[in-house]
Amino acid sequence: MSADTQKSSAIWGGRFDARPSDIMQDINASIDIDKRFWRHDITASKAHCNMLVATKIITKDDGDKIIDGLTQIESEIENGTFQFSKELEDIHMNVESRLKEIIGDTAGRLHTARSRNDQVATDFRLWTRDAIDIIVANIDKAQSVLKQLCATHKDSAMPGFTHLQSAQPVTLGIHLGAYDQMLERDKARFTDCRKRLNESPLGAAALAGTPFPIDREQTASALGFDRPMPNTMDAVAARDFATEFLFCAAQCGTHLSRLAEEIIIWATPQFGFVTLSDEWSTGSSIMPQKKNPDAAELVRAKTGRLNGNLLQLLTVLKALPMTYNKDLQEDKACVFESFDTIDLCLKAMTGMLDSMTWNTARMFDAAEDGYSTATRLADWLVMNLNMPFRDAHHVTGRIVKMAEQQQCKLYELSLDDMQSVEARISDDIFSVLKI
Ligand code: ARG
Repeated sequence: MSADTQKSSAIWGGRFDARPSDIMQDINASIDIDKRFWRHDITASKAHCNMLVATKIITKDDGDKIIDGLTQIESEIENGTFQFSKELEDIHMNVESRLKEIIGDTAGRLHTARSRNDQVATDFRLWTRDAIDIIVANIDKAQSVLKQLCATHKDSAMPGFTHLQSAQPVTLGIHLGAYDQMLERDKARFTDCRKRLNESPLGAAALAGTPFPIDREQTASALGFDRPMPNTMDAVAARDFATEFLFCAAQCGTHLSRLAEEIIIWATPQFGFVTLSDEWSTGSSIMPQKKNPDAAELVRAKTGRLNGNLLQLLTVLKALPMTYNKDLQEDKACVFESFDTIDLCLKAMTGMLDSMTWNTARMFDAAEDGYSTATRLADWLVMNLNMPFRDAHHVTGRIVKMAEQQQCKLYELSLDDMQSVEARISDDIFSVLKI
């Protein structure tokens, strides 16, 4: 028997004669994934231990030993000297087993009035809360670049599109301001998700609570939670905080992918609205003239992962009976990946926006193309000649056709030409035909 097998048996192996098969171990172990929240696991264990001492469930002496041991483990993991073991399944048992090596049998008292079920739910909520704080800070950074650009370009004309056809002139400031608004709502969604997840599962134990006189308020407040979760079965079974987080990330990624798509279009030589900086583009190995918007394309593509992760967890949770089932162990990889992905996408988008060149002269010219002031012309007819809008639309259509035939801009038509369509049009019309 290896030392690890003995450790494993020491934790839940009381009624087992044989060690698990290797493949059982492979499918069962989550340490490669959940070691990522080791810090939250130790923080939560310390809060639990302090509560056990305060309620006299364990002695102060034992409590001190446990806290010291946990602090040592913390620095071992920090320094990279901690040996993670697959045979010990997950972060919870890796830490507990090492605690036993350090302080002996007293380590076994830490798990009094606790189960891995409330423990993992607690760790995961703590981790997700921190993740949200990081994402919100990164959304803020992206927004401050956007807001700066909006201010700089509040009067820079560009074509506004519907159906990707020139529709009406807008300003670059308003166009980018739309994305600022999207990100504002994404931030609100993450913040709202944080509020809802900020309740403590600790004390639910396996599912039915515990006969020990624990103080759930104490652990909840020590960990910065707003309150203990009122229903112990819900506390260990609920993962809607995770699906909600995944949705927030998918929605934010969807917004970024729309902006990424616009950057890709704007950076084509055909549009030429923007020039990406060298730091945020790549070259082609065969075509020397090319400058590719790879970062934008990857932001666009990574939405696939974000959407996939949301669907993955929803599917894991669907029809899962109360309360904890091992299926729930499949809840973390997708959340970690979505966090990494949205974090990277936000940073890449911020960097791209901050460093690209906006070719405003080119945008202005494009804003004049495609008869983009035609709606203003129609509005002028309504306002000045009291025409019904539908009639004005028809008259404008004929004037646009005339400009098309003469291959000129609307403001390059002569007044005579326009009057041949509608005699009451006056010189004042030119004030709305130019941007
Ligand atoms: N590694 C487990 C998970 O992530 C921890 C909880 C295990 N609980 C249990 N009853 N086996 O879900």
